[in-house]
Amino acid sequence: MTKRSLKKSNKHFQKAIQKLPLGVTSNFRYWGDEETIYVDRASGCRIRDIDGNEYIDYRLAYGPTILGYADPRVDQAAREGIEIGGVFALSTELEYEVAQKISSMVPSAELVRFSNSGTEAVLAALRVARAYSNRDGYIMLEGGYHGVSDSALWDINLDDWDPATGEPEITPSSKGIPERLSEMVHLVPMNDANRLEDLLKKKHNEIGALLIEPILGNCCSIAAEQDYVDSVRELCTKYDVVLIIDEVKTGFRVAKGGVQELYGIDADLCTYAKSMANGYPIAALCGKEDLMRSIKYGGVLHGGTFTAHSVAISAANKTLEIIGSTDALETVKRYGQDLRDGLSQILTDHNVPYSFTGHPSMSGLFFAEEPPTNARDFRNSNYPFYEKLAEELLEFGVLCEFDPREPWFICEAHAKDALEPTLDAFRAALEITLKRENVE
Ligand SMILES: Cc1ncc(COP(=O)(O)O)c(C=O)c1O
Repeated sequence: MTKRSLKKSNKHFQKAIQKLPLGVTSNFRYWGDEETIYVDRASGCRIRDIDGNEYIDYRLAYGPTILGYADPRVDQAAREGIEIGGVFALSTELEYEVAQKISSMVPSAELVRFSNSGTEAVLAALRVARAYSNRDGYIMLEGGYHGVSDSALWDINLDDWDPATGEPEITPSSKGIPERLSEMVHLVPMNDANRLEDLLKKKHNEIGALLIEPILGNCCSIAAEQDYVDSVRELCTKYDVVLIIDEVKTGFRVAKGGVQELYGIDADLCTYAKSMANGYPIAALCGKEDLMRSIKYGGVLHGGTFTAHSVAISAANKTLEIIGSTDALETVKRYGQDLRDGLSQILTDHNVPYSFTGHPSMSGLFFAEEPPTNARDFRNSNYPFYEKLAEELLEFGVLCEFDPREPWFICEAHAKDALEPTLDAFRAALEITLKRENVE
């Protein structure tokens, strides 16, 4: 098989690197000096790069594309949003309309404030929780990801962890994060309610918030057990800790009411972004009225020049209308399940041990028979094999993230015609990867 040509992307990289760190606008978009690709166009579930290579995309920009790229219904609404005029340091009537739509699908979203990104919505959630509880400390789950703020970029260091020597170290995920913030950060493994209760018993006087994704959208989509989620809710109520459910990846994707609907649980605060506008930049902090009313003069400050930009809010209005009134999410789920079934058959035919995690709309693919129950279990997967397979898949026109912790995202447009070509590509890429493994 001839390799894809990346001639134009490579040439552009050499130009871009002179002006942009790593030649890109997010560290995660840099794949190597000769591997980084630049997008020409995307439509439906397909991306074309500037060399003309086409890919069926399962990264979907890390989740926001829930209907498909350049969805004509949403893009038309965005065009109408342009006509409104942008931003004004004033509000529009559309904000109320979109807030109503969110509340109608998410019962805990009694009040809504818009932000521009998931990072900003999470920052605002933590601030409201601190103001409300009068406690600065907060708990996150190991393997969780909540954006690029200094408060959120903490995780366990699995690379250097030797289970024989005790607990993994908690480290910032970037240089430049003040070390002293660590005094406020606590991390616990998912699906261990006893650990959580021990921590709360000892430190509830310092801890005001628990920030969690019940499906770890940045760690193989590892899913919480129902009992664990029920305990989390009970413990937060018992110890008077604000429960923030980060639905930036799961919201308007795994169900109309997100992960809260799946588990039958109500957050105190919850955050949305990605799928709520099919890729237009908008996010929302939502929550119970008594907490959200902390946002006021003399209380919590929340704002931002670009919040509820008329293009993004119009796109959100249309996207939420589609999600709320059609079976788009059912289509996404069904395709995700069909994809799992097809991949399972191929992996079984080739005697490769595997398991899937999370929801079919954002599946984690794990190369071990036992699915992981927390981030530490990720080490049990044959992730070097995953990385090699992902590289081969690219050559066959299927784009999934090289980092095996990122799930396979599904959009409505996949259901049109992507299944057979994806399975054909997967079979071919798997066979080459296995052959290479045997030779090496
Ligand atoms: C669960 C979760 N929260 C927050 C964020 C941050 O969102 P953004 O990239 O829009 O800042 C992400 C991004 O992937 C996320 O997955």
